[in-house]
Amino acid sequence: MPIATQGKVNISAGFVGPEESGKSYLAIQFVRHLNRRGWWALAVDANDDLPTKLDDGTPTGIVRHETLSEALSSLRERGGGVHTISTLEIVPTITAAKEIARASMDAHPLTAEGARQGRPAIVYIDEIVASQQATPHHIDPVILDGLVRRRHNHVVFAYGCQSALACHYMMFLRANILILFYVNNQKDHKRLSDGGVDQETINRMIQLKQYEYLIFISKAPPNGGTFGPYKGFEPLRRLVDAMLTPKR
Ligand SMILES: Nc1ncnc2c1ncn2[C@@H]1O[C@H](COP(=O)(O)OP(=O)(O)OP(=O)(O)O)[C@@H](O)[C@H]1O
Ligand SMILES: [Mg+2]
Repeated sequence: MPIATQGKVNISAGFVGPEESGKSYLAIQFVRHLNRRGWWALAVDANDDLPTKLDDGTPTGIVRHETLSEALSSLRERGGGVHTISTLEIVPTITAAKEIARASMDAHPLTAEGARQGRPAIVYIDEIVASQQATPHHIDPVILDGLVRRRHNHVVFAYGCQSALACHYMMFLRANILILFYVNNQKDHKRLSDGGVDQETINRMIQLKQYEYLIFISKAPPNGGTFGPYKGFEPLRRLVDAMLTPKR
């Protein structure tokens, strides 16, 4: 699906779990999946942690860059690839993704129904806490906009977070999917609870085994609820594909 209609890009996702829980590994498969379907892909990876290959040798498509401007030139030149940067230019990266998605829509003629279509973008921030732009007491308005106005922006915004406590509660309240790994810390639980995660889901998080995760969707059933436990990318892929497939 290289081209999507404006208003159909309806995902913002937080991957939450402690060190080595498997969040970056799962998140990069999500980014790779959309990139292979033709989406522009940018990622902020300050620690150069995201793998260029999965454990079975499958390439993730990552092309590393020092700065955002290098990443943008390379992205425009190649089109494909998951372009990562090792600076903490989070806000400019989100802004650039919006501009790229918007330019793609402007480059396509309107459909007979008057709809805008274009190539959407995904932005993934590997460790949002490192940036000081979504601290417990402050969240940058551009980050909030990335979480909330995904349909308007034509951009999927996703982030990884090691500690909920170190992060602003709006990062959880305004993401429409949370991927939750094992977290056994009451202060992190409290922040997730402030971010809209119910107690039953928190209780289920404590039962998770290595690399297992829950998918929390804060909508009424049947579309909302807490699903899992899951392991591996396949269950998340199915959910993402279902959410991004336009309903007739
Ligand atoms: N579902 C899985 N099955 C098998 N191995 C996995 C799975 N998920 C992750 N791993 C392995 O665990 C390693 C650590 O995972 P990952 O890098 O995602 O941790 P993380 O949660 O991002 O931790 P950190 O916060 O330290 O970056 C991966 O490099 C991978 O080899
Ligand atoms: Mg990681």
